Amino acid sequence: MQFIVIALILQVCLGQDINDNSFPDDFMFGTATAAFQIEGAWNEDGKSPSNWDVDIHNNNSIVADGNNADIACDSYHKYKEDVAMMKAMNMNHYRFSIAWTRILPNGYGGEVNQKGINYYKNLIKELQLNDIQPFVTIFHWDLPQTLQDYGGLLNDSFVDWFSEYSTVLFRHFGDDVKWWITFNEPQSVCSGGYGAGIVPPLIKSPAIGEYQCVHNLIKAHAKAWRIYDQQFRKTQKGKVSISLNTHSHLPATDSKENRTAAETQQLFQLGIYANPIYLGDYPEIVKTRIAARSKAEGRSQSRLPAFTRDEIDFIRGTYDFFALNVYSAYLVNSIAEPPVTDPPSNWADIGVNTYQPDDWEKTSAEHIKVVPWTIRPLLNWIASHYNNPGIVITENGYPSWNGDKDDRRLYYIKNYLSYIRTTMEEDGVKVLGYTVWTLLDNFEWTSGFTQKFGLYEVDFKTLKRTRTPRPSSIFYGKVSKTRCLVEKCK
Ligand code: BGC
Repeated sequence: MQFIVIALILQVCLGQDINDNSFPDDFMFGTATAAFQIEGAWNEDGKSPSNWDVDIHNNNSIVADGNNADIACDSYHKYKEDVAMMKAMNMNHYRFSIAWTRILPNGYGGEVNQKGINYYKNLIKELQLNDIQPFVTIFHWDLPQTLQDYGGLLNDSFVDWFSEYSTVLFRHFGDDVKWWITFNEPQSVCSGGYGAGIVPPLIKSPAIGEYQCVHNLIKAHAKAWRIYDQQFRKTQKGKVSISLNTHSHLPATDSKENRTAAETQQLFQLGIYANPIYLGDYPEIVKTRIAARSKAEGRSQSRLPAFTRDEIDFIRGTYDFFALNVYSAYLVNSIAEPPVTDPPSNWADIGVNTYQPDDWEKTSAEHIKVVPWTIRPLLNWIASHYNNPGIVITENGYPSWNGDKDDRRLYYIKNYLSYIRTTMEEDGVKVLGYTVWTLLDNFEWTSGFTQKFGLYEVDFKTLKRTRTPRPSSIFYGKVSKTRCLVEKCK
């Protein structure tokens, strides 16, 4: 691992040639979106409000440009155009999410909204007609407000709410959907929604309870996976996993302390979710540090709830592949133990320092610097910690303001793919697919329409929401068609 990092730094300094080997024929190229960010039609056809609808309607100052997602890209009405755009890019799969509030307006089982079902049935049919695999995220942050009113993910009943909702989706769509993701980015949900939060996906939730959210979310994921496994897998033959997000965390220097610090950071961000699911139980360092700091705060119990033996066994192995969202990297160095604070923070629980050097290329998003070479050590880290599972990159993309710098988006995608190809060849890491965030400019949560991640530009000034391909979409379409990043592959 150390050797790889040093070799990579050298490669970066000396300049990296783009890998000129073809991608395997069955490697999947796709794009991703999320219901809240593109659909609009926020109250149409029986849909109930999600927590995001409600929070933004109550206070639009939480969004950078004061906009809301009531119309977004209007994909609820323009989904055929979206599919045609993907077809033009020769996409193999489309990762989209389902709005819980369209399917179960009450939030929990019971009455299923047929119009919501029809919308996704039509979308899936359109994808199939165009030879594009549906890759469905069950929960991408838009929680029914009816459930948020009862504490959302902090309520133990969330495990049942989520698995009932998932069961409805498997039942209605499972004959046609072979790739499922239970949750998008649990770390963003629990840290942003219920903790101190770097990313704010769920707004206005109590600023405590991050680990309770982690605990309930993992149990909900496992229950949904087991339901699929027991009731649907035999006939539907699909795969179910969870999209975990992290950065590449690299030791700032090669000292033992910094290597331990980088490992700790990665285990707190990724391992806290991946270890229970891929290996069984939380990472030791995570359990020990939170327990020690909880004790120092005068608590009789750790703030991280413990799984019972049965729960550990129930959760272990609830995956069919490894789904990864990754955008950038951080360097990590060790620091002195942070003081005990009230309220406690996840940052102090981890107890390391992370930073991005000034000479890493910036983008419009503070946490995204352009460092494609860092994907290789991260993929190796996942392969070595979790027994080399098949990995699908379910998000990776470049943000710009006002759509400028598309050339940098093209550079970003090309170089990420190049390092991924090299990691597959030279390190034997199994990468099955790659998904660009995102198909089209959309409602970027609290950044509103200010940040543009799209391969297609969307004109938000008129209700037509006209879509226009950017050069990066032409490039990506060619890669998907030729399986090759350069003019001619070997
Ligand atoms: C999320 C997307 C978001 C993207 C860019 C990811 O963390 O899953 O919903 O739009 O990052 O910020």
